[in-house]
Amino acid sequence: MARFLKLRTPILTVALMALLLAVLSACASPQNTFDPKSDATDSILTIYILVTVVASVVGFAVLAAMVWLIIKFRAKPGVPAKQIHGNTKLEIAWTIAPIFILLIIGIPTMYWIAGTAEDPAPNVLEVEATGHQWWFEFTYPGMGLDGGDLITANELVIPVGRDIRVTLYSDDVVHSFWVPQLVGKTDMIPGRTNVLQTFNAYEPGLYYGQCAEFCGTAHALMRFRVNVKTSADFSTWADAHNAGPAAPEPGTAAARGSLGFATCSGCHAISGTAAQGRIGPDLSLFGERSTIAAGILDNTDANLKAWIGDVRSIKPIPEGARFMPTFNDGTLDEGQIADIAAYLNSLTAE
Ligand code: CUA
Repeated sequence: MARFLKLRTPILTVALMALLLAVLSACASPQNTFDPKSDATDSILTIYILVTVVASVVGFAVLAAMVWLIIKFRAKPGVPAKQIHGNTKLEIAWTIAPIFILLIIGIPTMYWIAGTAEDPAPNVLEVEATGHQWWFEFTYPGMGLDGGDLITANELVIPVGRDIRVTLYSDDVVHSFWVPQLVGKTDMIPGRTNVLQTFNAYEPGLYYGQCAEFCGTAHALMRFRVNVKTSADFSTWADAHNAGPAAPEPGTAAARGSLGFATCSGCHAISGTAAQGRIGPDLSLFGERSTIAAGILDNTDANLKAWIGDVRSIKPIPEGARFMPTFNDGTLDEGQIADIAAYLNSLTAE
């Protein structure tokens, strides 16, 4: 029994770890770097696997040598331990071997690092991303009306199979831009311009992005999505963005909401309308977005109403921070909030 008790802790530990591994591997993992979906993340994974394999081989070799040495040279009764001072052959071997090992890791790594500085394809899509406490703004220079900027927020829309180069800015504190399946992370630093490594997405879909640098109370809730579209769908989206929304059918909730949106237009812009505020996220084509609240909630009617009513019930936004005010404190009644939600979700590319 005592023997069993002694054994029980390690057995439990192993069993728990096996269970944890099983649970983790069953997760749908939209931020899994082992499932790369662009040329950039593909190279990162290749280097990662190379380094892991080499390090494992070295680790096992050292452990095996240690076990062999411990057994072979252990103290035996009546045999005094042999005293050894230096061994030139060994010294040379374990100086040269690591050089080769480092070359095996170093050459492909340097080759890949040099590749990140290569010029992108001539048809590269340039995008500017700006970090704000606590949301992301995306600007496409020259793609807006009359060659101006096309601006959107919290969902970066890009075409598949085309080089994308994102220039990073911050409006306040240090943030970090990271889309695990598409591109490695780079900081967004106030007063500094960083350029993200060029990447080229393999397939259309919705990818998870995340602020990866602590930036205040709502840091963990500062996310975004990258919506990779076919080339044709991307053009449709940009054209609809610039065209602006059709006037809503009179008498509908969306029509009432379009008037009620005057309350919001000091901070938010909707392309093609009178709303041109630039303090908060641009809301053009809001109905096309899959998420709200900087990527943390599904874009459903209930979530949107809750968000418009009281953002502080959803995110830990400090009072006094430059963020959306609370509107369900008597500023707007439930009906008005519902109308604005209906209007926002009527803003689609159709
Ligand atoms: Cu922005 Cu963390």
